[in-house]
Amino acid sequence: MSGRILPLALEGVTLKIDGRRLIDKITLTLDAGPLTVVMGPNGAGKSLLMRLCHGLIKPTKGSITWQGSPGVWPGERQTRVFQKPVVLRRSVLANVEYPLKLRGVDANERKVRAREALERTGLGDIAMSPARVLSGGEQQKLAIARAWAMEPEVLFLDEPTANLDPAGTRDVEDLVRAVHGAGTKIIMTSHRTDQVRRLASEVVFIHKGRLIEKGPADAFLDTPQSAEARAYLSGELLV
Ligand SMILES: Nc1ncnc2c1ncn2[C@@H]1O[C@H](COP(=O)(O)OP(=O)(O)OP(=O)(O)O)[C@@H](O)[C@H]1O
Ligand SMILES: [Mg+2]
Repeated sequence: MSGRILPLALEGVTLKIDGRRLIDKITLTLDAGPLTVVMGPNGAGKSLLMRLCHGLIKPTKGSITWQGSPGVWPGERQTRVFQKPVVLRRSVLANVEYPLKLRGVDANERKVRAREALERTGLGDIAMSPARVLSGGEQQKLAIARAWAMEPEVLFLDEPTANLDPAGTRDVEDLVRAVHGAGTKIIMTSHRTDQVRRLASEVVFIHKGRLIEKGPADAFLDTPQSAEARAYLSGELLV
């Protein structure tokens, strides 16, 4: 199911808030295929960039366009899971079914798709538990299961493992790889080099709201081209 709404093209995207230029003239194309990680230090603008791409905020200047639907925002084909998962006060299964219901998927199909998503995510055994009692790691998996059940072409993930321990991080990384392997384009943020090394096939490195480098993950990690990326990867504090 590739190539329907991608590539996603950003042209001179700038975001100013209260006179501060938080995103600065980012021009960038994201194609179907690679698992893309937006990397950069705290405050670089990663979350803002994800929000802009997803359509939650509008740029002050510049354009963001989806190839397959000129002038149309393909809300149905792209979804997101951000750092703090939103979990509804109902069962795990009902949490996954809910957005499908909003999209008009009929009750039987909705149940089948939600069950499948929970099985694939390893949450099948707790489908009937109240979602609010799940641990942080389980809630994050639930949020990804819910997104996966919608069969999006693109999934945005903003620091999906930020609050998780090493085992939770590994589970979520496995899940992200599985969603990507099943054909969904992943665009995620991370500030962790180890995570980028394990997951990314493409890196978009940003700093102070600017695009510094974009390229294959191996090349970026082994031979970064910019002074900023070299400093960041060698553990220096970027200010
Ligand atoms: N709504 C807002 N109003 C004003 N400034 C904001 C707003 N949202 C973010 N910022 C500022 O924009 C900059 C980039 O923020 P952003 O959250 O995108 O960084 P980030 O790269 O995601 O960092 P982190 O790794 O800490 O999540 C920060 O300096 C932040 O203070
Ligand atoms: Mg962030």
